[in-house]
Amino acid sequence: MQKEDLDYFREWFFEYVNRFFSPDSFTQENIELKIKHTRRVCENTLVIAKSEKISEKECMLAETIALFHDLGRFEQFAKYKTFRDSESENHAILGVKILNKEGVLFRLPEEEINLILKAVEYHNLMEIPGNVEPSGKLHFFCRLIRDADKIDILKLASEGYAEEEKCRNPALELYLPDARGYSEPIVSEILNNRMAKIGDMKNRNDIKLLRLSWIFDINFPATFALLKKYGYLETIMSSLPESKETEVLKIHFEKYLNTMESGGRKGNSKP
Ligand SMILES: [Fe+2]
Repeated sequence: MQKEDLDYFREWFFEYVNRFFSPDSFTQENIELKIKHTRRVCENTLVIAKSEKISEKECMLAETIALFHDLGRFEQFAKYKTFRDSESENHAILGVKILNKEGVLFRLPEEEINLILKAVEYHNLMEIPGNVEPSGKLHFFCRLIRDADKIDILKLASEGYAEEEKCRNPALELYLPDARGYSEPIVSEILNNRMAKIGDMKNRNDIKLLRLSWIFDINFPATFALLKKYGYLETIMSSLPESKETEVLKIHFEKYLNTMESGGRKGNSKP
């Protein structure tokens, strides 16, 4: 992969998303949200990639994955007016289909095409599939996009919750009701340092906890450092109801963050 390829991909991406600009303000707002998300995921990717001291060519590959990871979101929203995959279709697989249909990556060697397509396809799975070699290149790029993506979703969530009483975006809240307390399976997963499951969410507090539980799937020390720097944990936690349970969860998250910032997850390896 060369610098010209990355320039071409950036140009292609912005021409592609232009096709989805809409006179309907709700659609337009959500399309723009995903364009901005993509830009920030590209930035996060480069911060993490550089901290891992990978080669320039590998940084370009990582940026391409970041640029295309949510490509399916645009068609998804235009078609179904939701970002909820379970009510529409899997946006990661949709993105891979679009990349193939449009022939965007065909200028690259086959090995790089496969790596990009797989990293896009796997970016939204609960975990990286077991058949991906943990010490291999694909595993590294999967961990990278998943970290860069999660940190931006936490940013959006923390900003949304800080302003939530002013204006709500139901597309971000996944249309769940307001209610007190938390769903028990979500709390239990968190106290066991595991990511909570979407199917266990019952109310808007659960969405916040679910997003915070992604911290347990973060891989690189640089990502933990970014999380801490921006204070997303504090902002999201402070939007939850004051209770003993909230306090227990907060202390649990803080402890985990502090331990991980110094070392990251075990088994990390460069490509
Ligand atoms: Fe995504």
